[in-house]
Amino acid sequence: MCFCWLVMKAAELFIVLILLFAGSNSDAKKDKQIAFTIAVQGQDDIQFYEGDDPCKVIKKYCKGLTRLFPYEKCFELLHAKTSTQIGQLWSSLHQKLKINEGLFIKCDPFRFDAKEYIKSVDRAHLGTTRNSTAVIHELLNHLKKAMQKDERALALFNTRRNQLELSDLEKVLLYRKALLLIPTNLFVVDQFGLALIFVDREEEARALFANAVVRGLWGNPLQRPVSKYVKGLTAKPWHDKKDYPFIAKLEAGADEVKKELLHNLKQKRHMFTGETENLHVGGEWTELRIKSSGHGMIKKHTDLFSNTMKVIEGCGEEFVSIKFSAIQPGTHIRTHTGPSNERLRLHLTLVHTGGARIRVGTEWRTWEEGKAIIFDDSWEHEVIHTGEDMRVVLIMDIWHPELPPESRVVH
Ligand SMILES: *[C@@H]1O[C@H](CO)[C@@H](O)[C@H](O)[C@H]1NC(C)=O
Repeated sequence: MCFCWLVMKAAELFIVLILLFAGSNSDAKKDKQIAFTIAVQGQDDIQFYEGDDPCKVIKKYCKGLTRLFPYEKCFELLHAKTSTQIGQLWSSLHQKLKINEGLFIKCDPFRFDAKEYIKSVDRAHLGTTRNSTAVIHELLNHLKKAMQKDERALALFNTRRNQLELSDLEKVLLYRKALLLIPTNLFVVDQFGLALIFVDREEEARALFANAVVRGLWGNPLQRPVSKYVKGLTAKPWHDKKDYPFIAKLEAGADEVKKELLHNLKQKRHMFTGETENLHVGGEWTELRIKSSGHGMIKKHTDLFSNTMKVIEGCGEEFVSIKFSAIQPGTHIRTHTGPSNERLRLHLTLVHTGGARIRVGTEWRTWEEGKAIIFDDSWEHEVIHTGEDMRVVLIMDIWHPELPPESRVVH
C-alpha cells in the first residue's frame, strides 16, 4: 500500500505539463505535424501527431513505462491531463486529432449500435414513424448556432428538444455528437451521461461523470448542476433542517396551507399544469407556480392562496421560487439534476399517504405530511411513487447560505 502511494506521488511529481503547439517543430516523424505535446520530466515527451487517437498514444506511452510506474497509475494521470487539456483547447485541437467520445469516458472504444439497441427494446417506445436522423440534425444545428452566441438559437434548441420528446436512443445519438462539439458544456456532458444510464450503459456514464470531475467541470460526479457550478460551496445532497430555523415556522403553518390547497383544488380541479421537460415516465407530474425564479409573484395565484402567502411571509426568508408540485401514483421522475448549486430546495409535505420516495445523491428518503425536507437539487435525484394517492408538496428554493449576497442574482 505504502509503496503504491509513493510511486503514485513520484509519478505526479514527474509529470509536468508543457504544451507546445505544432508548426514550429520540424523534427516531427516524417511529414506528420505534432498537434501537441505533454512534457514528462525525466522521461520522453508524449507527442500527439496530427491524425493520432490520443487514447492510443497514452496507452502506448504508459505501456512503455511499466518498469518505472504501474500502468494503471500512469494511464490515470495522463488520461486526466490529456482529456483536460484537449477539452480546454478544443477549438484548436479537435480537428487535428482523431477524437471520439471514449476520450471523455475512459479511453475504451465507445460503441453504440442504434440498430442493436432498437432490436433489444420495445419499438413502441421509440416513435417508429419519425425520422430520428432529421430530428438530431435539426437540434445539432440549433446547438451549433447557439455556440456562436446566438441566444435565439439556444432558446429554440431548448424549446424544440422538449417539443420533440426525444427517445432515449435519440438522446444518446444527439448528445454523443454534441459532446464532440462542446466537451466542456455542463448540460451536454450531463445529458449524454443520463442518456447512457437510460439505455443501460451506466458504467460508461459513471466514467464520463468521473472524467468531468477530473477535468474540473464539477466537484463530485453525483453533483452536476447543468448550467452553473459555483466552486467552494459546502456540497451535500441532504441538508439538516435544524440548520434552517425558519423551516419550523413553515411546518407550523402546514395544516393551513393544506386546507387552502384542498379547498382550491375542489373549486378548480385543473388548476395545475403538466411538467414540460419530459423528465418523468408513467403517472402524472403537475405544478402550480406562485413565484418563478427571476420573476415576481404570480398575482392570480397569490390571490388564490392568501393564507399560504401569510405562512410563507411569516418565515422571514427570501424564496427564489415557490410552487406546488403534485405527482400521481405510478410516476417515475427519472434521474436528473437542477440548474445550479447556488440554491437549495425545500419541500413542505402537504399530501402524502405513503408510497412515494426520493433519492438525492445515493440516499433514499420519503415525505411525511406536515414536515419539510431540504436538499441540494444540483445533486442527482429521482422520485418514484408506487403508492395509492397523489402526493403534493410546496416547493421553495432558498439561496445556498454560503453564497455571498452580491451573487444572489438569478441568471
Ligand atoms: C431522414 O432525414 C435525413 C436528414 O435530414 C435525410 O437525409 C433522410 O433522407 C431522411 N430519411 C427518410 C426516410 O426520410
